[in-house]
Amino acid sequence: MAMISTRGVVARGKGEPVQVTEVLVPEPGNGEALVRVQACGVCHTDLHYKMGGIGDDYPYLLGHEAAGVVEAVGEDVTEVQPGDFVILNWRAVCGQCRACKRGRPWYCFATHNATQKMTLSDGTPLSPALGIGAFAGKTLVAAGQCTKVNPAIAPATAGLLGCGVMAGIGAAINTGGVTRGDSVAVIGCGGVGDAAILGARLAGAKTIIAVDIDDRKLEWAKDFGATHTVNSKKTDAVEAVRELTDGFGADVVVEAIGRPETYKQAFFARDLAGTVVLVGVPTPEMELELPLLEVFGRGGALKSSWYGDCLPSRDFPMLVDLHLDGRLPLDKFVSETIGIDDVEAAFAKMEHGDVLRSVVIL
Ligand code: APR
Ligand code: ZN
Ligand code: ZN
Repeated sequence: MAMISTRGVVARGKGEPVQVTEVLVPEPGNGEALVRVQACGVCHTDLHYKMGGIGDDYPYLLGHEAAGVVEAVGEDVTEVQPGDFVILNWRAVCGQCRACKRGRPWYCFATHNATQKMTLSDGTPLSPALGIGAFAGKTLVAAGQCTKVNPAIAPATAGLLGCGVMAGIGAAINTGGVTRGDSVAVIGCGGVGDAAILGARLAGAKTIIAVDIDDRKLEWAKDFGATHTVNSKKTDAVEAVRELTDGFGADVVVEAIGRPETYKQAFFARDLAGTVVLVGVPTPEMELELPLLEVFGRGGALKSSWYGDCLPSRDFPMLVDLHLDGRLPLDKFVSETIGIDDVEAAFAKMEHGDVLRSVVIL
């Protein structure tokens, strides 16, 4: 079958600088869609792939927070058609697994990707980041990974809903169940934490406390709707959250870092019967120790949020429409737009905390 040539950002080996090189993309087969990528955000997960933190399946085709236009679809595809403007998601719901059959498709245990492989020009198969691989002019995905949304939204803004922003908004609304009048604390105010703040505000939370160790991040958090900020380098996070909630703790605490010490802060900064949501992703060696009596005595729920427990087909179009109505300033997450050759530089900015998101325009 004819392969389509494009350029993509490839990580060839552990820790090596990424390369922009020729990538060959198969024409879509059964259940697949070929997407012309318009924008793709630079996420920590891409850096993890490059650094070997996710696996050893080099070469990786990086990029997964993307939006674009469907160019072609395989024969049996009904979800989308050529010309549709779509956000790519990395959890294509299968409809068949036990989670889907129980009516909880956002937990789908058998999410799927394209079957055919994209390759380097010498035929070496690529491992696409999170089954997407969208730092490329074109990419091949499972049709279910494409969610059609209103094309009036800027692609750079839309793409971010495909990962970090959806994870944060969903952590607050879907997993945490934040609702009108709630008090919410968010620990860690990067892109994911700020999205949780935005989600909490959208849901009508009354008090939204941003916790971070970086004053610059706390300033940005205010812009997303934080009513109070706490620098946990200078002040005890748990005490501060209690003080700001009449001595009780927050109804919902979102941990958007993924570390045992900040998880513990989340646990103790929560009111009785409150909810802790872990959306930050820990590393394999991390362990958590908590007094079991407190786990019982404080009641409530300790939850993890996979991809914001989102259902792309339900949540992406809704959030895009809210944005277009002027009720959800998603464009604030786009710190800068860059070219495909600038991903390595963007990783450095991300590590220094200089940006919420750099977005590659293709
Ligand atoms: N206490 C408080 N804040 C902290 C601490 C700490 N001990 N350590 C780091 N932070 C803050 C940083 O200052 C930064 O503002 O947490 C924030 C983390 O943000 P980013 O590094 O930009 O990460 P982000 O993209 O928001 O993702 C956060 O969610 O999806 C996961 O893999 C992702 O684990 C990561 C997390
Ligand atoms: Zn399923
Ligand atoms: Zn991501």
